[in-house]
Amino acid sequence: MSTFKCIGILTSGGDAPGMNAAIRAVTRSAIYNGMKVKGIYRGYKGLITGEIEEFKTQNVSNIIQRGGTILKTARCLEFKTPEGRKQAFETLQKEEIDALVTIGGDGTLTGARIFAQEFNYPIVGLPGTIDNDLFGTDVTIGYDTALNTIMECVDKIRDTASSHDRLFFIEVMGRDAGFLALNGAIASGAEAAIIPEISKEQDQLSDMIEFGLRTSKNSSIVLVAESEVTQGAIGVAERVKKEYPNFDVRVTILGHLQRGGSPSAQDRIMATRMGVAAIDALLEDQRNVMIGIQNEQIVYVPFSKAIRNEKPINRDLLNILHISSI
Ligand code: F6P
Repeated sequence: MSTFKCIGILTSGGDAPGMNAAIRAVTRSAIYNGMKVKGIYRGYKGLITGEIEEFKTQNVSNIIQRGGTILKTARCLEFKTPEGRKQAFETLQKEEIDALVTIGGDGTLTGARIFAQEFNYPIVGLPGTIDNDLFGTDVTIGYDTALNTIMECVDKIRDTASSHDRLFFIEVMGRDAGFLALNGAIASGAEAAIIPEISKEQDQLSDMIEFGLRTSKNSSIVLVAESEVTQGAIGVAERVKKEYPNFDVRVTILGHLQRGGSPSAQDRIMATRMGVAAIDALLEDQRNVMIGIQNEQIVYVPFSKAIRNEKPINRDLLNILHISSI
């Protein structure tokens, strides 16, 4: 029997497909292990306002296939202040919640880390973000579904790009990381990807054009990762219009549709494995760790490492994209 009688669960930051599968697995695994579960609504905000409900197994029925998060989510500024966190701690005491499972990205885990240290409070995090930018896990919950969405959208844009012989710059999300842009480009057969990790080192646009973009094709698709470093698809397109006026250029920003939709099988399975692992971790008295997956194995990654913004991109993939698009 666990020392924890009641755990709280919340989703915070940008929603990601597969969060519901994770909520379901955490809830059911906690109940299976004899704990009570309380769902906290709207991320850390719910801890401050007390928007909390006890979850039974039925509360998480019929949600594994749904995108978004049934617990809602928010980016809570109050939780960034000591007063806000104190209020959150008081709510946890009042609700008799002994440990938390938080699902989200970098901001969520950063908040969890500060709170756990400040109040010596046990927290286990699950990596829930389409950006795949958390260190210590091969993939994050929502990333695979978002990649598939990008691939489907690019397939559609290709029809019109090739009909008009146009050069399309398609902007994808990723915050400051290029995982979605690079793998999205490979998956959709795009000609190139412009990503922040490389923009710092070289001028990807002129390289791309010098390498002979469109020499063997009439239309081209380039995925651009959103970021100040890449200047986004609009910035890149403006530069092309100035420097290479013979190209017929168009821009599409995929935006929030990348966050929606029913999670892929891979995201559902991974979220379920990670959700069960979160409860295992608490039972093993692990705290202040993120559950990750490395080479198919569950691992515990200290918050401090997960959020350091150092997840490397596999540079071989750039070459693979280049070779496969000549
Ligand atoms: O972190 C997920 C993400 O979708 C990023 O890719 C994007 O930069 C950001 O969230 C957008 O946030 P919001 O939904 O608050 O505009």
